Order: sequence, then C-alpha cells, then structure tokens
Amino acid sequence: MPNEIIDMMRQREYALAVREIISEKGALRGREYTACVVTYGCQQNENDSERLRGMISEMGYRLVSERRGADLVVFNTCAVREGAEMRLFGNVGALVHEKRKNPDMMIAVCGCMMQIEENARRIKMRYPHVDMVFGTHTLYRFPEILLNTLKNGGRTFDVLDTKGHIYEGLPILRDKSFSANISVMYGCNNFCSYCIVPYVRGRERSREPEDILSEVRDLIGKGYREITFLGQNVNSYGRTDHLACDFADLLERAAKLEGDFRLRFMTSHPKDASDKLIDVMARNPKICNQFHLPMQSGSDAILKAMNRHYDMERYMHIVNYIREKIPDCAISSDIIVGFPGETEADFECTLQALKKIRFDMLYAFIYSPRVGTPAASMENQVSDEVKGERFRRLLAVQNEISLELNEAMVGTEPLVLCEGPSPENKAVLSGRTEGNKIVFFEGSPALAGKVFPVHIERADPYAL
Ligand code: 5AD
Ligand code: SF4
Repeated sequence: MPNEIIDMMRQREYALAVREIISEKGALRGREYTACVVTYGCQQNENDSERLRGMISEMGYRLVSERRGADLVVFNTCAVREGAEMRLFGNVGALVHEKRKNPDMMIAVCGCMMQIEENARRIKMRYPHVDMVFGTHTLYRFPEILLNTLKNGGRTFDVLDTKGHIYEGLPILRDKSFSANISVMYGCNNFCSYCIVPYVRGRERSREPEDILSEVRDLIGKGYREITFLGQNVNSYGRTDHLACDFADLLERAAKLEGDFRLRFMTSHPKDASDKLIDVMARNPKICNQFHLPMQSGSDAILKAMNRHYDMERYMHIVNYIREKIPDCAISSDIIVGFPGETEADFECTLQALKKIRFDMLYAFIYSPRVGTPAASMENQVSDEVKGERFRRLLAVQNEISLELNEAMVGTEPLVLCEGPSPENKAVLSGRTEGNKIVFFEGSPALAGKVFPVHIERADPYAL
C-alpha cells in the first residue's frame, strides 16, 4: 500500500483519539469544545481551511465563527504580500489575553507563511502562547500534531517536510452548500521573480483526473450549482505528472457530466493558456464565459524581468482569440505596480494596455518585496511614494472602464447565482453573474443557492 494511504489511515486514528479526549474533557467541564479557523489569502488557502474544518469537526469540535472564546483557534496564513503577514502577527498577538481567560485554549498557526523559516522562528520565539505550527505540506497531519500537543502539553512544530505529496480523501467541511472550489493541482514551477508561492507551496503536482471528476460528480449529486477548479497555473495541469489528460480535456470531461451546474477555473498563465482551452469553453455551455488572465504588466521589459515567459503580443493573441470565439466572455486580470525597475514609460504601457483591452475586472497590487525571491534583491526598487501614486492612477483608469462596462448592463437581466445575504449588508442579497460580477438585490435569504435572472437597475465600478 502506498505510504500516503497508510499515513492517511493513521491520521484518521489520531483524529478519533483526539475526539475521545475532547469529549471526555468536555463532559467534565460541562461544555463542548469549540474551534475557529481564520483564513488569510487566496482561494487555495480557503480550500485548505475547508479541509482543516473537516478534520476539526471529525475530531469532535463544534466550529464557530468567532475566535474569542473558542478552545481551538487555527490561523491559516498567506505569504504573498507583506500586508497579510503583518495582520497575522497582530492578530495572533491579540489572543494572548483570551488564552489567559481560557486555559483550555489552544492556538495553531499554519499555511504558507509558516513555510518560511524566519516566520516560524518568530512565532516560536516571540509568541509563546502559540501551541502548534505547521506548514502547507503537513496540513494533513493536523490530527497527529493536535493529539501530540494535547497529550504532552508542550508545543509542536512541524514545517520541514517539503515532499508535497497529494493526499486524497481528507475530510472537508465546505463553507457553502451551492458553490465549491476544487484544487486540481498544487504548487507552482514558474518562479515569477516577485512571487513566493513556488517556495512555500512546492513543485507543481496534479491530481488524477478520475479523483477530480468523482469529486465533481459527488458535488453535483449534493446539489452544488457552481464548481471552480483551482490551481496556481491550471493551464499546465498534468504536465509534470505526464497525465494523458491536459486541462482543456479535464474541463471538457467535467462539462459533459449530467446535471444543472456551471464551471469556472483559475488561475491561467498567459504563457500556457491554449487556443484549445478557449475552443473547449466556446463549445461547452456549462463552462462560464469568464477568463481570469493575469497580465501583471503591460511592458515587455518588465514582463521579462518578472520571468513571465510571454510578451504583450502573445497576451493580446489570447485576448483576441477569446473575444473572437466567445464574444461575451468577461476577462479579468492581475496587475502589479512598482515592480523593481518599472519606469514611467513602462507604467504608461500598462495603462495603455488597460485602455485597449478594457478588462471587466482588475485586481491591482502594489509590489511587495518577498525575501528569498529574485526581485527582492534587485537594485532598482521603486519608492513607496511612486508605487502609491501609480497605484492610484491605475485604479482611476480601471474604475472608469469598469463603470462604463457595468453601466452597459443596466436594463439587462443576467442569470445570477444567489449567495444569500451580503456579508457587508445583511439587508440585501448578493450573487454573481456568469461573468463573475457581483449583483446586489432584494429578496428572501431562502433564495441562496438558486439561479435566476435579476433586472439590473444601477451600476458602480464594483457591482451591479
Ligand atoms: N507583490 C505584489 N503582488 C504580488 N502578487 C504575487 N506576488 C506579489 C508580490 N510580491 C500578485 C500577482 C498575483 C496575485 C495573486 O498576487 O499579481 O497574480
Ligand atoms: Fe507565483 Fe507566477 Fe506561480 Fe502565479 S505563476 S503562483 S505569480 S510564481
């Protein structure tokens, strides 16, 4: 039997052992044990948190959304930009008082940030109230880590394993009952010069198509209406594992399954996004007409320094091919401003590209140096002042475009998947169109998970 399967079976045993301890202790103190998972970062991390919640609930804890007062708090961290790291240290520090109030409380910090030695060391030295630290590669071992800490009363650090196997069959407690994310691959081989992901998530590895498709079938059977395939670079799915099925094949096989659902995917890398994938999207109505295609910069010189392996000619080919084959496809992108060496002329190329392409949505980031990546030690760093000024100019250009594109939808009635009461304002419902635009509307919370047309009355740059 493969080691991974044996390891998984052991974890199930550890989980049951934790369950016994927790239920005995809970009975003694007359109150059940509760747990809260706090997530930073991207959808991959959200997905890992759903796995953590699956394990935690199997271990007998009741999940709660408020970390204060919980008996187990897990911080699942992100390392992509400095801001998320700073917030994490602040939030972990703030729990020291909670722990004094509740001696049963245990705190775990895991995820991408903990794969960086310096961060794990900082938690070890300066945050003695943290009981457990583990990385992305040891997530599946959480039951063992928790059992060890509960039994021995010390602290457990488990971050070093970087083999990065795929562990199928981890329990999962999904956030929503109508839309789900499925990781189809893990890690990244691209080493864009600004990005920490390849260092913290390891080399690219793809799940077997059959495992993915059976997860899709299971979700459709449970009534899920929207499924998103996740990967750092979905277009290279299967490549390093020499699978006979590439990403376009996988998507098409999923789109041909019976049932009333729609499919999305992210993220695509322009160097690998194929015409074949766009053809598959064009002929399969269950695949949403939406394409997230991070451009990062509109300047060939900066793209080269970023180690992106494409130029603007290649990028424009993909955009044009999408628009030729799928005229109503929404296209969104990521942009980094202030990459080392970015001149005013380079930045101007990015603005020109935005005006020419007219993205439906844009996620803009200020370049954040990540220790250990090549860009962090480049000499020509851009000052914070210039970065801030470019960021504001970029947003101003994009907001105008987004507003015009959204206003063009006023009077139409797109199909919307209702996500229930809006997190920001519980009095209204929110949902998403096929193009992934957010729509706010009135109605009963019971509409969550249903798909229906919504008449668009007004638009702003961010929502309908
Ligand atoms: N600084 C700023 N933005 C970054 N991203 C990744 N690394 C960095 C960094 N060091 C952005 C990229 C990527 C998105 C998920 O985050 O635009 O596409
Ligand atoms: Fe980072 Fe580039 Fe990999 Fe995306 S493709 S995760 S930006 S290294």
